[in-house]
Amino acid sequence: MQIKDNSEKYGTISKFLHWGMALLILWQFLSAAAHYFFEDTTIEAFFWPTHKPLGVLLLLLMVLRLLWALVNHSNRPPSVGLLAKLGHMTLYLLVIATPTVALLRQYGSGRAFEAFGVPVFAGFEGEKIKWMLDLGSNFHGELGWVLLALIVGHIVMAYRHRKNPNTDVLPRMLK
Ligand code: HEM
Ligand code: HEM
Repeated sequence: MQIKDNSEKYGTISKFLHWGMALLILWQFLSAAAHYFFEDTTIEAFFWPTHKPLGVLLLLLMVLRLLWALVNHSNRPPSVGLLAKLGHMTLYLLVIATPTVALLRQYGSGRAFEAFGVPVFAGFEGEKIKWMLDLGSNFHGELGWVLLALIVGHIVMAYRHRKNPNTDVLPRMLK
């Protein structure tokens, strides 16, 4: 078993993080869509309760994944091109920024917050913190939908790159 990445392919930890998080992100968007399109239905009641805790977990996993990418930085399969590199960096940025602005809004509301039963922050008395509320309300959903669009583009490009053996990068994330 190859734990770390090398120039030919991604190692077990990178692959586990990539595919595991892809599944969790799929679930995260199902819950966002259920909230957006099916408010006050049983569909929302089923999916929505996981949205905040899973969002916190995704933020933690993405920070770990970023650290792991830095550890492997000089020893990873090379990007197909500059656009692919920038695209991957933007994916990192958005999976960190989207939950962060939501968490700031949550904190600014002054209400106590926990994820999976683990306290994240205690509430506070007094005025809500307006800039935090505004930041979350103005950007959380928007960043989330941009992330979804970028993920769709990422998947389309992964399959388009299969046509040319020089750019067929799927095996290095699978094998
Ligand atoms: C990677 C993590 C996350 C993603 C991709 C994500 C994505 C989304 C999306 C696409 C929406 C629908 C926006 C709309 O109604 O137009 C949404 C709504 C929402 N999310 Fe998240 N979210 C994440 C994490 C979180 C976290 C950590 C929290 C709270 C601690 C949170 C709280 C909310 C709330 C309260 C709404 C409904 C209100 C609103 O539209 O802002 N989300 N999220
Ligand atoms: C069916 C879904 C997906 C497919 C087929 C897919 C495919 C791939 C492939 C083939 C690579 C290797 C690219 C290369 O080495 O140049 C890759 C890397 C990457 N993918 Fe995906 N991907 C999927 C879902 C996602 C999702 C949901 C995200 C969201 C964050 C994501 C983020 C990344 C990132 C950041 C990289 C760079 C390597 C890393 O840091 O892990 N992918 N993906």
